Amino acid sequence: MTEYDLIIKKGQIVTESGSYKADIGIMNEKIVVISRSLPAGAAEEVIDASGKLVMPGGIDVHVHLQLPFSGSVSADDFENGTKAAACGGVTTVLDFAIQSKGDPIMAAVEARRAEADSKVCIDYGLHAAITDWNDETQAEIKQVIDYGIPTFKMFMIYKNEGWMADDAMLFSALEETAKHGGHIGVHAESVFVLDMLIDRYAQEKEKWGAYAHTLSRPGYTEEEAIIRAIKWAEVTGGQLYIVHMSTGGGAEAVHSAKERGVRVYAETCPQYLLLDDEVFKGENGHLYATCPQVKKPHDSERLWKGLLNGDVQVIATDTCTFNTEQKAAWKGDFRKIPFGMPGVETMIPLMYTEGVGKRGLSVSQLVALTSTNPAKLFGMYPEKGSITVGSDADLVIFDQEKKVTLHAADLQTNCDWSPFEGWELVGYPAVTMSRGKVVARDGKFVGEVGYGKFLKRRAYGKL
Ligand code: URP
Ligand code: ZN
Ligand code: ZN
Repeated sequence: MTEYDLIIKKGQIVTESGSYKADIGIMNEKIVVISRSLPAGAAEEVIDASGKLVMPGGIDVHVHLQLPFSGSVSADDFENGTKAAACGGVTTVLDFAIQSKGDPIMAAVEARRAEADSKVCIDYGLHAAITDWNDETQAEIKQVIDYGIPTFKMFMIYKNEGWMADDAMLFSALEETAKHGGHIGVHAESVFVLDMLIDRYAQEKEKWGAYAHTLSRPGYTEEEAIIRAIKWAEVTGGQLYIVHMSTGGGAEAVHSAKERGVRVYAETCPQYLLLDDEVFKGENGHLYATCPQVKKPHDSERLWKGLLNGDVQVIATDTCTFNTEQKAAWKGDFRKIPFGMPGVETMIPLMYTEGVGKRGLSVSQLVALTSTNPAKLFGMYPEKGSITVGSDADLVIFDQEKKVTLHAADLQTNCDWSPFEGWELVGYPAVTMSRGKVVARDGKFVGEVGYGKFLKRRAYGKL
């Protein structure tokens, strides 16, 4: 009988506020000791992390696994999507239970758990997406929060899916969630202007091809909706979280709202930082269609600035994988492209290479943006997002020297293409550990299907 199940030796431990060299002792899924030197004989297993970083596992608060959407179902299901997450250094994902109009929110939560619980390979939680607002929904908010889902999502678009929330719903939900310590995440785009522009470009769809997707969704359609949502948060006192923010104008709006004391936070994704809408001009431009779509280089620049100065607090991926066969359903009509792309597997290494390697992000900022801030904002800290005694042993041993050329074929995702195909990375996860169990090594899954647990999260998350 040994003192620890596992010791990680000689790694450079990175937290949101700094880094230091130490050994970590793990017992019964938890970090139980952090010390300058632990005797190797005190554990059943020892992992040598010398020369490598040890970071809290990544937390991707925005994934859509096996989502019925755009006439298809996203290709990474709860099993493969969480395997892919593990391979990329992510140890927690948050997906969505989307209310069906007329039904209770909890019906969607139970249905989603029935799909996910036996499949997930790392820990996961759910946001509740509100698509209906009536007395029953209002009364359910506290119940959903008490159940362990303190974060909600509302879509300002998607009429056809039956998901769209109007301003009155958004206003009411901000008011109600504020009473119980919840927050509203919002997909912000201006639906009426968008629909008008989509109709306009549909007249010339053969001329523009996939580029019509970006022509019909100019930056101001996101900026205006963000400003509107912020106004409702300001007057209700509700807490707002802008999901997948893609515009510089959005970042400016969040910046000035925060200066006025509005309770608003924002997330962006690697695609908005690293790609621009020229991608739609390529032969396979339709593959890149997401919603909101990638914007202009000046938008990316402003988002990078936002990560560095605190306007943007979270990096997530909006993983919603559609393979080339699914994307082919567009048949030349930009309105029919399934929206979404893979992402969870490449978030940490891409952000390390591009953010830490090239953009002046410190490793601690990377940890804050991809792990600690999400844990705090989404009610999981300090069990998740932290390397301290008592935290879950969700850890990534990260090899800063490892060179990888990204190829979809080498990844775990069910996607047969990658938006970052051929990109040269420097730095990749060597080992991913979920509650003390090694779940991935060198980009390959070695864990167990169904090992992941549903996370009951706490209310009043903030930074
Ligand atoms: O294109 C995307 N983002 N697909 C997923 C649905 C959403 O809006 O997040
Ligand atoms: Zn969205
Ligand atoms: Zn999404």
